[in-house]
Amino acid sequence: MRVIIVPTREALGELAGKLLIARIAANPRIVLGVATGSTPEPLYAQLRKAYDDGTISLEQAHAFALDEYVGLAEDHPEGYRNVLRRELVGSTGLKEENLHTPNGHSDDPRAAAEEYEAAIAAFGGVDVQILGIGANGHIGFNEPYGSLNSRTRMAALTEKTRADNARFFDNSIDNVPTHCLTQGLGTIATSKSALLLANGKNKAEAVAALVQGPVTAQWPASVLQFHEDVTVIVDEDAASLLEMSDLFERVQP
Ligand code: F6R
Repeated sequence: MRVIIVPTREALGELAGKLLIARIAANPRIVLGVATGSTPEPLYAQLRKAYDDGTISLEQAHAFALDEYVGLAEDHPEGYRNVLRRELVGSTGLKEENLHTPNGHSDDPRAAAEEYEAAIAAFGGVDVQILGIGANGHIGFNEPYGSLNSRTRMAALTEKTRADNARFFDNSIDNVPTHCLTQGLGTIATSKSALLLANGKNKAEAVAALVQGPVTAQWPASVLQFHEDVTVIVDEDAASLLEMSDLFERVQP
């Protein structure tokens, strides 16, 4: 696991942008795994900038979302397909038909989850998986105490995650869906490389558990310690509970 500490959230976006843009430039047919939430927003802004100035295009690329809420109206602005449309489709060259998201509207969520898992497998796993991390250590919506080898499935969101995400739903936890379809930890493990980003003090405990804790279902992200190619980029606040943090790379992009 390569851990890089940067001074600020802006620097996080810049460095992650540099690393990802190089990967896309080297392989325009790249298959990306894309997270939603606040953390990757500065990274997606870098991709749009690089598309605007002609450095890269995702025209030939595919993108697979990590997760989707179950039960939101199809046109709900916080549905993750709609979020990713706004962030990436067109503005980075990504085509609508190459944006893959689990079908949170399906009458048969179990079948929808299996289809999604199969679609990722058909590409041999994603090339670069972008990840955020929940304050409780979730990646995707794999909440604590689930299987470390889970596959795409319907899952319940914890109160903690629903409270954290209420900011996207008029600050009311009651508006936040209770369930989602999410890639499993075993699905994420099939990615060829992963880029996990975290900023802010509220992520510090989860980051310490991810990087230095025992591998445990209590902190789902800790399973990434077994992944062969993970880069973790965190700001100073998110790094604040790491032991011996002077050992890690510090980069000022
Ligand atoms: C989103 C996702 C989640 C988020 C995590 C952090 O697709 O899978 O794991 O990455 O909840 O969210 P933010 O970045 O909003 O703090």
